[in-house]
Amino acid sequence: MSEWSREQHRSGKTIGFVPTMGYLHEGHLSLIRQAKELCQLGVVSIYVNPTQFGPNEDLDRYPRDFERDEQLCRSAGADVIFYPDNREMYFPDHFTWVITEQMTQKLCGLSRPDHFRGVTTIVAKLFNIVQPDLAVFGQKDAQQALVIKRMVSDLDFPVQIVVAPIVREADGLALSSRNKFLDPKQRREAASIYQTIQFADREYKKGRRDFAVLARQAGEFLNNRAECRIDYIEFLDAESLESPAADRPVLMAVAVYFGQTRLIDNLILSD
Ligand code: PAF
Repeated sequence: MSEWSREQHRSGKTIGFVPTMGYLHEGHLSLIRQAKELCQLGVVSIYVNPTQFGPNEDLDRYPRDFERDEQLCRSAGADVIFYPDNREMYFPDHFTWVITEQMTQKLCGLSRPDHFRGVTTIVAKLFNIVQPDLAVFGQKDAQQALVIKRMVSDLDFPVQIVVAPIVREADGLALSSRNKFLDPKQRREAASIYQTIQFADREYKKGRRDFAVLARQAGEFLNNRAECRIDYIEFLDAESLESPAADRPVLMAVAVYFGQTRLIDNLILSD
């Protein structure tokens, strides 16, 4: 992989990169198309990274279908698929980690304590191997995108980070490889996540800034429409993930369990 990248750089070509864990959907394909619009060559990695899963999470049942993914990558214009296995990515005695502090100790970091350490470590490794000029991440994983941007800036990775918009189903559910775990009732009810976000956005547009009350009301709105367990509904500064400040963009972030399946969604509120 690295040899190929070095060769392309030598001949003056630019490389856009989309790291994924496979089981691709239209959201991933939109990232690949964006990478190809911005660079001459597009690389997609497909690797279910074990170090970003907690001990009781869904690593073993995480969906995989390489042949389908390969076709989808090609159809979206990818030039190369990097598809390593665990032994290539982590030697048995791997013990070096990339840790972005602070921003990872909230939202998903609270219920998934080692998750971001796994993400930043694997993304740093993938950047070193693939050597892209630019990498595209999805806004659906808003915290991940901010953490990666911070890692790139703090550690001077020569990679431009582009964040692409969330792609949604017709009823508003954000596309996710995990949606496949929802039974028909859960799938119907999962549309209420986005309805809840829209409810809060309407309130924000009316001038509401009492975020603690708004979060509680949004939780009631969701619980009235879906049988689910809310992990968090939070309003934070859209860049620093600190408490919202006046005149700065606010991120509404939601994580919800439908049975065993944990779904996340978010919106940058605007008036
Ligand atoms: O967003 C994902 O699918 C993963 O967290 C990533 C960025 C591919 C790292 O494993």
